[in-house]
Amino acid sequence: MHNQNEPKTVADSAVEMRYLVMPNDTNPQNSIFGGVVMSWIDMAAAMVAERHSNRPVVTVHVGDISFKAPIRIGDHVLIQASINYVGKTSMLVGVKVIAENPFTGITRHTTTAYLTFVALDDIGRPIQTRGLIPETDEEKRRFESGKKRIEDMKKSKTK
Ligand SMILES: CC(C)(COP(=O)(O)OP(=O)(O)OC[C@H]1O[C@@H](n2cnc3c(N)ncnc32)[C@H](O)[C@@H]1OP(=O)(O)O)[C@@H](O)C(=O)NCCC(=O)NCCS
Repeated sequence: MHNQNEPKTVADSAVEMRYLVMPNDTNPQNSIFGGVVMSWIDMAAAMVAERHSNRPVVTVHVGDISFKAPIRIGDHVLIQASINYVGKTSMLVGVKVIAENPFTGITRHTTTAYLTFVALDDIGRPIQTRGLIPETDEEKRRFESGKKRIEDMKKSKTK
């Protein structure tokens, strides 16, 4: 059991999931239905926020999501989610979606998404989240751009 106040590293809560795209996941054009990808993204990101905070979490915001390339039946889909930044009670999680054709090995980065979660106390109120220790250069870069993303969001809310 972690001490709730102890900061964690990005690696401590990162999540990686892999799916095989089945017919039930697709639209009439045989490429993946966007809502399926969004649900995978939300689930992976929520697990990161839960692992970071060791609390129940809710999604408060999903940033712009664009689908840059189709994902086809039979593709393998890799979802990589990691915490980018933490505010007082909020956690910003970045998610990268990569499609892989298992027969050629060719991979395509299809989507990047940023989601904000809030950890809740025992009566459903936002609770202060633990600190985050970015270690690698990439994690430090994501921390700074996450900070800017949150500050910009707060500025646009007050306009
Ligand atoms: C989560 C919830 C309890 C937060 O309550 P709240 O009154 O908005 O609390 P606050 O205004 O103090 O916001 C809490 C944090 O979320 C952040 N936040 C709130 N709205 C946000 C938004 N639209 N985008 C990004 N961050 C947001 C705030 O900046 C704050 O962050 P900080 O403490 O790190 O500075 C409430 O919004 C809620 O219950 N939402 C529904 C969540 C849900 O059911 N999700 C399931 C998917 S539908």
